[in-house]
Amino acid sequence: MTQRKGIILAGGSGTRLYPITMGQSKQLLPLYDKPMIYYPITVLMLAGIREIAIITTPEDQAQFQRLLGDGGQWGLRFEWIVQPSPDGLAQAYLLAEDFLAGNPSAMILGDNVFFGHGLPQLLESANARTDGGTVFGYRVSDPERYGVIDLDDQGRVSGIIEKPAQPPSYYAVTGLYFLDGSASQRAAQVTRSERGELEITALLESYLAEGILTVEKIGRGFAWLDTGTHADLLDAGNFVRILENRQAMQTGCPEEIAYENRWISAEELQARAKLFSQNRHGAYLSELIN
Ligand code: G1P
Repeated sequence: MTQRKGIILAGGSGTRLYPITMGQSKQLLPLYDKPMIYYPITVLMLAGIREIAIITTPEDQAQFQRLLGDGGQWGLRFEWIVQPSPDGLAQAYLLAEDFLAGNPSAMILGDNVFFGHGLPQLLESANARTDGGTVFGYRVSDPERYGVIDLDDQGRVSGIIEKPAQPPSYYAVTGLYFLDGSASQRAAQVTRSERGELEITALLESYLAEGILTVEKIGRGFAWLDTGTHADLLDAGNFVRILENRQAMQTGCPEEIAYENRWISAEELQARAKLFSQNRHGAYLSELIN
């Protein structure tokens, strides 16, 4: 079986979060106790993916590398790719074409945070579909801010519309895309939208037109959090804090998943725990070993 590869798109200028993103990338900002990008990394890890291309702006790449290294600390391998200008999400598949080398992929946006019981199972079922694509629909109060799912009379998906002024449904398409090995070829056929971008929705439409796009609705037991505004950012951080404090368990902890998956040894985990011996994170990792 071909191995699915991961892509994390962490480019963009984060203008909606100015001035806090004037000096650093949005995806490096904290969500309570971890940098934002930890959360999407762990989603890919939960999907069993170990080879991950991280796409950043040219200016921010060094800072991401300083934080994340080569991925070996979590039993992963990171490949670093630069997006010279933010020309749309579908461009990621062109930039990552050599990395993917025709393999199926899972792309997640560097600012997307998922939480929910049964997330690994959800990812597993998408992972198992090697032909076509899978995206996830999530009910939100403000669909006009996202790609929105249009449904026909039978409740089948008839289209995906990017940021529509009049949303046809409450269902936003989340920033997690499982696509087959044809994604890069298809992305090459996408033409620029009115706002000048290679839209992910146009790429998804190409799958939809052939009837090979699965749209899975994720239910109310899941949280798909937004970090697009200052208030969203604080809310998402508080969400993580409330959960972690209440349960004494972490969300978005790469060491924990790597250890559970046996991608790192107890010794390697211990070394990480030592790095964080000054805080709760270190104690948490030590406890995992015991
Ligand atoms: C992008 C996509 C949109 C998707 C959203 C999810 O929008 O274009 O279809 O719903 O991510 O986070 P952006 O947030 O880049 O404006």
